Amino acid sequence: MEEKWWQRSVVYQIYPRSFQDSNGDGIGDLPGITSRLEYIRDLGTDTIWLSPIYKSPNDDNGYDISDYQDIMTEFGTMADFDVMLEKAHSLGLKIVMDLVVNHSSDEHKWFVESRSSRDNPYRDYYIWREGKNGGAPNNWGSCFGGSAWKYDEQTDMYFLHLFSKKQPDLNWDNPVVRDEVFNMMDWWLQKGIDGFRMDVISLISKPEGLPDGEPGPTGYAPFLLTANGPHEHEYLREMNRRVLSKYDLLTVGECAGVTLEEAKNYANLDGSELSMVFQFEHMDADFHPVYGRYAEQCKNLPRLKATLARWQKELDGVAWNSLYWDNHDQPRVVSRYGSEKPEYRELSAKMLATCLHMMQGTPYVYQGEELGMTNYPWTSIDQINDIESLGNYRDLHARGYMSEEQGVAMMRQRSRDNARTPMQWDDGPNAGFSSGTPWLPVNPNHTVINAAEQVKRPDSVFCFYQKLIRLRRELDVIVHGHFELLEPEDPELFIYTRTLGDEGLLVMCNFSENARDWAVPADYAGADVLLANYPTPAESGRLRPWEAIVLRKGAK
Ligand code: GLC
Ligand code: CA
Repeated sequence: MEEKWWQRSVVYQIYPRSFQDSNGDGIGDLPGITSRLEYIRDLGTDTIWLSPIYKSPNDDNGYDISDYQDIMTEFGTMADFDVMLEKAHSLGLKIVMDLVVNHSSDEHKWFVESRSSRDNPYRDYYIWREGKNGGAPNNWGSCFGGSAWKYDEQTDMYFLHLFSKKQPDLNWDNPVVRDEVFNMMDWWLQKGIDGFRMDVISLISKPEGLPDGEPGPTGYAPFLLTANGPHEHEYLREMNRRVLSKYDLLTVGECAGVTLEEAKNYANLDGSELSMVFQFEHMDADFHPVYGRYAEQCKNLPRLKATLARWQKELDGVAWNSLYWDNHDQPRVVSRYGSEKPEYRELSAKMLATCLHMMQGTPYVYQGEELGMTNYPWTSIDQINDIESLGNYRDLHARGYMSEEQGVAMMRQRSRDNARTPMQWDDGPNAGFSSGTPWLPVNPNHTVINAAEQVKRPDSVFCFYQKLIRLRRELDVIVHGHFELLEPEDPELFIYTRTLGDEGLLVMCNFSENARDWAVPADYAGADVLLANYPTPAESGRLRPWEAIVLRKGAK
């Protein structure tokens, strides 16, 4: 099969609110992004995924859209967008936009109409139901806590919102809704954008009859029971036929609740749906067995390895993986699987990068990940802005499962705000992000972790990412090699091979601060060192704390 451009790409994700403020209001914006495009080009990534920049009342920071064809006031104007797009293209950077169409904002004109009367022409754009036994139509819970239904007095009915009350779910079973969405997508593609990252796209087709589900610890049935619904693939194929297939795009579906079998449909290499999916199984590998994500982190390296290995092997030749540790919804990976200790922080950031970037799939780098940015040292619940971690904390706190103190500890490990503190550009005031007061606090460690210092230091995390990104462009074995996991049960070492014909890579990563004896297998004896995170040569038969080494054999 012919290689697609996005199979060799590395994507850089921007969360615009936190990337670069240009006018001192403390909020990142489009001119700010435009001013930093050279930095992204210099890193070597070729594609940018922009989290939403559309008009929004910001109940969920732009993931609640009130006009899909306009720009958020705080971020600038459509003219600012056009300038950014043109400059990006002139630097050889593609732009992939976030597409948030499982739901809109309740302030979108479709919903304003829809809620106004039972027979309004827009009524069926959303999912309205009568209450049952004096309460909600079913027991589904919202991803952000509480019921997934809101009662609306105006027409004495409930509407569905899998996310916040200000994010009503669109009714994809209505063909007019699909027309509207497809026309809007086409409008952006005509402008020249290069693809879409599709927000919770696995949730658009709701189960027939909206049945009750098994309640979880919060008393509600988890919203994920709506994933991969009966018409999911039918709607995506229609989208592909009517819109996507007319362009040469990178499309990635954020597929909460996706299974391997489902991913083979979503991301099939036959091109009938999307280029690739974001799966969540490796993100769930450190969840608490009962309370899930918003509880104490439960690390388990064998589980993480088994999950990633399954996705590597099963999609090989059939579909395409995306590779990520970080995004705007996840805590920082250095704090999660690496070490914040000064002597190990950079080593562990490079080790984690190696482990991910040597796999098959398209890697995503989330702003600041290329610097080894860490979680924020939250000291109080009041500092948290993130609607998801707050909502889940409130549910668990109200039921007596989590004290306030435990809540703060949980936020430090788990809140989405850990990813959303401002980008650390330099060691000056507000890390060079803004001349005003930033909307979220700047991590105090910007005095030691920042871009200005790293771009000019050859052994920095930034320069290590540059190397990884360059290698992917140069070596077919990184793009296409077959994956094999070694030592699946080892609780500290993550070791695998990639093989393509005679060529092979042995990737050895130590996920701990213990030095570990581990002998290189005979078929890699004498192989070249392609990459290493320590400045001094490897010690034979041993992996030092947080060490990563890649050996290469059979190269022509
Ligand atoms: C996705 C987004 C997340 C948002 C949610 C609702 O998971 O990545 O940030 O809150 O969808 O749109
Ligand atoms: Ca601004």
